[in-house]
Amino acid sequence: MGFRHCLKKEVFWGCIVLVAVLFLSSGCENLMQDMYDQAKYEPFEKSELFPQGQSARPLMDNTVVHASGGFASSSSGRVGIKKVDISGVNIPFPVTLKILQRGQERYNIYCTPCHGLVGDGDGMVVRRGFPRPPSYHSERLRNVPDGHFYNVMTWGFGRMLSYADRIEPQDRWAIVAYIRALQLSQHTRLADVPKNVRQSLESG
Ligand code: HEC
Repeated sequence: MGFRHCLKKEVFWGCIVLVAVLFLSSGCENLMQDMYDQAKYEPFEKSELFPQGQSARPLMDNTVVHASGGFASSSSGRVGIKKVDISGVNIPFPVTLKILQRGQERYNIYCTPCHGLVGDGDGMVVRRGFPRPPSYHSERLRNVPDGHFYNVMTWGFGRMLSYADRIEPQDRWAIVAYIRALQLSQHTRLADVPKNVRQSLESG
């Protein structure tokens, strides 16, 4: 019994047509838009459409930079920049309520996932298993100069990444100011509390 006799006639011819279609269509790939050469401009690609033949467009007014602060853009934010040690420096401008509020906002965005809302190191990702950072309320961190916090944000620290490409220098100082406020909130003597508030605390 030959091969042909094992199959029904229609099935046999169906298979032949299918194989022929597959064979012929394999050459069509080049006619289709390759997925890896998509219809879009790649960085610095020429353009017939725009003046000067450039596809890159000038930045619009009020464009907000993604990376800044004297750092080349990179995930660690510190390519090719010489490390300047400012760990002994204190916040270089007067701290106002507005700056504290800005610091609180930035701190809550960038630092709470690990350091927690109050800074004791029990942020959400730590509760899920990330290494626990030290509490800001330790004797040591209460006594380091402001520049130490600034440095940690700028350069990273041990297992903590740099935040230089996400937080502008001005905002880093605002965060330092807010961390100082957090520290004060956990270590205040009654004598430091304004008189009018003190009374209500004592009676409460
Ligand atoms: C993804 C988690 C994570 C985030 C987010 C994070 N940190 Fe940390 N941070 C750590 C860890 C972990 C350590 C301890 C690193 C080590 O000792 O190896 C640390 C340590 C520190 C220290 C202590 C340095 C010392 O002298 O012991 C400071 C200060 C600090 N972080 C500030 C910040 C600030 C400010 C932010 C927000 C801009 C921030 N961190 C965001 C994880 C994080």
